[in-house]
Amino acid sequence: MTSQSESTVYIETYGCQMNVSDSELMLGKLEASGYRQVDAPDVADVILVNTCAIREHAEQRVIGRLGEIKSHMKRGAILGVTGCMAQRLGPAILERASHVSLVIGPDGYRSLPLLVDNARRGARTSSTNFDLEEQYEDFTPRRFDRVKAWIPVQRGCDYRCTYCIVPTTRGSERSRKLDDVVREAESVVAEGMSEVVLLGQTVNSYNDGVNDFGDLLRAIGGVPGIMRLRFTSPHPNDFSDRVISAMAETDAVCEHVHLPMQSGSSQVLKRMLRRYTREKYFECAARLRAAIPGLSLTTDVIVGFPGETDEDFEETLSAVREIGFDDAYTFKFSLRDGTPATRFPASETVPDDVASDRLARLIESVRSNVRDRNLRLLGQRREVLIEKEARRGGLLQARTRDFKTVILPGERSMIGSYATVELTGTTGSTFTGAVVRERKPLPMAV
Ligand code: 5AD
Ligand code: SF4
Repeated sequence: MTSQSESTVYIETYGCQMNVSDSELMLGKLEASGYRQVDAPDVADVILVNTCAIREHAEQRVIGRLGEIKSHMKRGAILGVTGCMAQRLGPAILERASHVSLVIGPDGYRSLPLLVDNARRGARTSSTNFDLEEQYEDFTPRRFDRVKAWIPVQRGCDYRCTYCIVPTTRGSERSRKLDDVVREAESVVAEGMSEVVLLGQTVNSYNDGVNDFGDLLRAIGGVPGIMRLRFTSPHPNDFSDRVISAMAETDAVCEHVHLPMQSGSSQVLKRMLRRYTREKYFECAARLRAAIPGLSLTTDVIVGFPGETDEDFEETLSAVREIGFDDAYTFKFSLRDGTPATRFPASETVPDDVASDRLARLIESVRSNVRDRNLRLLGQRREVLIEKEARRGGLLQARTRDFKTVILPGERSMIGSYATVELTGTTGSTFTGAVVRERKPLPMAV
């Protein structure tokens, strides 16, 4: 064994599932080069912080964390910053934080072992070139989750929503070849998992030059052993009839779509360059619901976008009410350098106290709508996949196909298997369940 084979790596991940998936790829790559994963920074030779740039708050958290890590680094350890914030700030991170020696953007992970080696010899490097060919096809991810697998199918984004930093940090859209994704899904089943989540910035615009997203869903749904198929996040404009038919006709595709709305006002949507109106969004939700009985819908909403009036915000509130989302992630607009939104006149900025007030009202409205919907589900039966131990002692956490969280009693050995539960109670957001029937072991479990 070389001395490097005893080296250890610790990785901390912020941001979206794409970042989690990237961390799995990075860890896989480093393990292939002889590194062993550890779960605390103070025992690691290499510390990586995989960052998000989507809102200022996300970046501030990382800056705070980098400061904390400094005092935990063992002698000779190196610290690298990867991901979207690394891409956005590049060498400026090296200038501002002398204990960081490595900055790598989302397209640069192929060189990770080399750059880490150099850093351990004293080099300080920033690597932020885009590579439109890069799909990390030959990497073997080191998966964090033992029950469901994140599979990236597309990198980058070609939409130009005016609030969004992602096109700047992740470059142009590119799709993996369908056969490669199928191969990964087969290997996931061989590892004992039965749920996959396809990832892309606008995942349903997937196109590998031959196949569209509908073809991909049918192909992955046809892999023996795949019982649940999900994807995130789609764009409302890319739900063609072909894609919706594929969803409806592929048994594994779960009855849940996370469909970012962002605003319920056509005026605001136009300025966001979302490329749909309130009516078009409603129509998309209706088409999905008509094709897929029992579909649950969740969404993302931004409040306080430049120029958003009280009337615009009321339209967002009414859209949330009328559509009847099963959940919504709500955000206060954060102005990011380098996004088109910086070009709106300062006079259109929504004052922070107004934006905070709108956010609080929106959260309240979402909560009460979701609670009402969930109360109506009590007594129903659902199939769940048991995912992990719940935070509260002795219980398990499971998910329905329509993406409800259910807490239930049971043994650790049930993790990874399916059960039918009756929904017996709800906190408003999550459920408690009683097992009616267990289905164990998994057909393809190892
Ligand atoms: N400010 C606030 N929220 C944002 N999002 C993206 N960019 C911003 C921003 N600048 C939200 C969107 C997106 C989710 C991942 O984050 O709602 O769907
Ligand atoms: Fe954050 Fe967006 Fe990058 Fe994901 S793609 S890490 S959400 S900035």
